[in-house]
Amino acid sequence: MQELLNKLEAYKKEMAEFPAADEKQVEEFRIKYLGTKGLLKSIMGEMKNVPVEQKKEAGQLLNEFKQFTEELYEKRKTSSSNGEEKIAGETDLSLPGEELPIGSRHPITLMRNRIVSIFQRLGFAVAEGPEIEDDWHNFGALNLPEHHPARDMQDTFYVQQNPSFLLRTHTSNVQIREMEKGVLPIRGIYPGRVYRNETVSARSHCFFHQVEGLYIDENVSFADLKQTLYFFVKEMYGKDVKVRFRPSYFPFTEPSAEMDVSCFICGGEGCNVCKKTGWVEILGCGMVHPNVLSNCNIDPNKYTGFAFGMGIERPAMLKYGINDIRLFSENDVRFLKQFSSSI
Ligand code: PHE
Repeated sequence: MQELLNKLEAYKKEMAEFPAADEKQVEEFRIKYLGTKGLLKSIMGEMKNVPVEQKKEAGQLLNEFKQFTEELYEKRKTSSSNGEEKIAGETDLSLPGEELPIGSRHPITLMRNRIVSIFQRLGFAVAEGPEIEDDWHNFGALNLPEHHPARDMQDTFYVQQNPSFLLRTHTSNVQIREMEKGVLPIRGIYPGRVYRNETVSARSHCFFHQVEGLYIDENVSFADLKQTLYFFVKEMYGKDVKVRFRPSYFPFTEPSAEMDVSCFICGGEGCNVCKKTGWVEILGCGMVHPNVLSNCNIDPNKYTGFAFGMGIERPAMLKYGINDIRLFSENDVRFLKQFSSSI
């Protein structure tokens, strides 16, 4: 009897190790152990040789063995007919995973990338700077000394514990930081978030985004400024868009201008976006003021340059038909996921 027991245990071990990775192997298992000429049949056949007094016990052993074999076969059959390999009969590695929602780029990022990439093609290099800035880099170096009335143009948030620090009101601080490095010529494009103490409404917010550009070299003229911005406008708004410059004032540029493009919504006919004027203001610009160059230890007799700055929110609102600036910062997924198709 012990002999039979040992034999059956050895078969069990063999069966457990029999490969069962796919349906073919499971079928091989069936033929070998459960088939008409299989192992089970031949063992059962040996019952007739067992002495009568041992028949009962041997019968029990063989029944138990038969059950083991059939169960093993069933188990393997179900896992392989699902077409998968199972590990320890539990984890099914071949089932498709749960779908993860794919994020999308924020419309401000999309617009920022679009603007920046046009200037990158002209050789402008991206740089960034701090959002919490000192007075000098946000105002002083930009020819806006303390008590200068032009500071009122930009309502500033000061750091309560130390009012010599503030939240930058424009990304012009990056212009100063780049010029201070003293590596010339400079051709840079500076995107980033800026802060102004303005009442939050559908049209204005206390923080928004800008892209500023700076070009400093010998013999840079207003003609270079115009040509660069013409290129930008054609790339951004299309070949048929017209451009006009209006004289303006910024303490850090002289002369200064504001640039308008013919309304790309109504084509200049007059609509709500252009307030019936046919023109949309898109940026401020000018030749870098000699005082600003001197403040950054650049010789204004040798070098000249131009700078420009534009907001990102407004062009993004126009492009995507967004009528409330607050949507950009509310992070409502229903809003954000609408931009998923555009990379
Ligand atoms: N810094 C200006 C602003 O925030 C924009 C600007 C940049 C104007 C460079 C002229 C030159 O409004």
